[in-house]
Amino acid sequence: MQPKQHIFFIGMMGTGKTTIGKKLAKQIQYPWVDTDQQIEKNWNCSIAEYFEKYGELAFRQAETETLYQLVEQAPASVITTGGGIVLRPENRTYMKQHGQVIHLTAHPDELIRRLEDNQSRPLLRGDLKNKVRQLAREREPLYKFADVTINTTYKTPTHIVEEINHYLIKS
Ligand code: S3P
Repeated sequence: MQPKQHIFFIGMMGTGKTTIGKKLAKQIQYPWVDTDQQIEKNWNCSIAEYFEKYGELAFRQAETETLYQLVEQAPASVITTGGGIVLRPENRTYMKQHGQVIHLTAHPDELIRRLEDNQSRPLLRGDLKNKVRQLAREREPLYKFADVTINTTYKTPTHIVEEINHYLIKS
């Protein structure tokens, strides 16, 4: 593994970025930080409240600023991100310049199953199935800049972390 680089996790909501990122960080003894969690800390409200108060456009700006903040303040860390961080080209370039980018995927039906009981994501309110399918279609090309893509469907977190570790050791 290249020394002292951040490891970014990107991917659609429900792909397990937080669970896997946290588990990997523990294993490789890196700090773990998360853009959504940092936004919640910085603005002292939940992501859902943030969207309600300020809207998506402001959220995207907060997301970019938070990404920069975490990259600059933290030593080499595992940085998990919100699914929409790839919408801004500058975020994609920035992550690529500051570390390795790991893209987690899962079949849309699996994402829908995982997200069904969760009300915390403002962009999925209403018609969950269609929204997940549409976002997955729209965003697929934006995740392609990643260094590696790992499909998480039918895999346990332990198996996924093992796969990522193999990749990191070789790179
Ligand atoms: C979003 C994903 C969420 C969160 C916000 C918007 C998106 O993060 O940042 O609700 O646009 O895909 P997770 O991917 O961690 O659910």
